[in-house]
Amino acid sequence: MRKDKILVIGANGQIGTVLTQALREKYGNDNVLATDIRTSEQLNEPFEILDILDGEGLSNIVKKHDITQIYHLAAILSANGEKNPRRTWDINMSGLFNVLEVAKEQSLDKVFFPSSIAVFGTHTPKEKTPQFTFLDPATIYGISKAAGENWCQYYFDKYQLDVRSIRYPGVISYQSMPGGGTTDYAVDIFHKAVQGIDFECFLSENTRLPMIYMPDTIRATLELMEAPREKIKVRSSYNLAAITFSPAEIAKAIQQHFPNFKISYNPDFRQAIADSWPASIDDSEARNDWNWKEEYNIHQMTQDMISQLSKKYNLIP
Ligand code: NAD
Ligand code: SER
Repeated sequence: MRKDKILVIGANGQIGTVLTQALREKYGNDNVLATDIRTSEQLNEPFEILDILDGEGLSNIVKKHDITQIYHLAAILSANGEKNPRRTWDINMSGLFNVLEVAKEQSLDKVFFPSSIAVFGTHTPKEKTPQFTFLDPATIYGISKAAGENWCQYYFDKYQLDVRSIRYPGVISYQSMPGGGTTDYAVDIFHKAVQGIDFECFLSENTRLPMIYMPDTIRATLELMEAPREKIKVRSSYNLAAITFSPAEIAKAIQQHFPNFKISYNPDFRQAIADSWPASIDDSEARNDWNWKEEYNIHQMTQDMISQLSKKYNLIP
């Protein structure tokens, strides 16, 4: 068995910042190389600049550091993606393609590719969306993730590449800010609430979307990646569920801590994106195949977000 050496691509993002830290705690600081197209003060060494569109640069890094696993997080998310669809397609698709090729060419042990609830569309069942269903994504981000899932399946079938994937719900975190998605409001609302600022939501009050707290996101990712190979039956991407709520419901949960907190609604172009996504997810396959189970419900998450952000802003909750 060769030693695990991990490469994280897109490590400076909302998930990468926290996942890189968790991987370093597990595998040892020096065995986890963080890379991104931009630097950040939040990540320690080892760090290298890498543009995922630079396939040769990626290949050289993998060789130089004897990388055995890649966590490929770099992408343009749903809302930002709509601003420049062609570039979003290039980064999300060519980026994944570079990763899959280098993993095949250099016989890597494993690859992680995050997909999203954005692969679903207006013709997908909205409640308890099944694992295997019609995919008609409405955004270029969703189109690229759905195509990416199929590429992962293809590389597994054709080259036996051990690539694993989760369709993350909207991720909520206190450690890092989200990078231009449709679920970003559910992070911003906490920042406003703890600072005593009223919140104007870009989605309408009853728009229910699947969400997940960051500790559950990280645990799900590590549990999927550590599961025995034969347990992983879905090689496109696993549905994953944790919490579902609307802006009105999360505001109500926050008001239990801050009774004076006020929310108003001013839906913008992101409303149409949210309307095309499921409200809840059936993740039976993840639960059966690798024993997924969330730990945080809406109230536990709210309590922890408020307590952590209050510390961050030096406020007493
Ligand atoms: P993010 O936008 O916060 O981070 C993405 C990172 O990729 C950024 O640090 C950015 O600098 C980097 N990046 C962009 N272009 C790059 C390039 N050409 N080369 C190298 N790096 C580049 O995103 P995130 O929320 O951390 O998401 C990580 C992954 O998880 C993405 O693939 C995203 O689609 C997926 N995902 C996220 C969520 C969520 O709610 N955050 C939900 C579903 C899926
Ligand atoms: N949370 C992400 C977004 O809103 C979904 O992948 O774009």
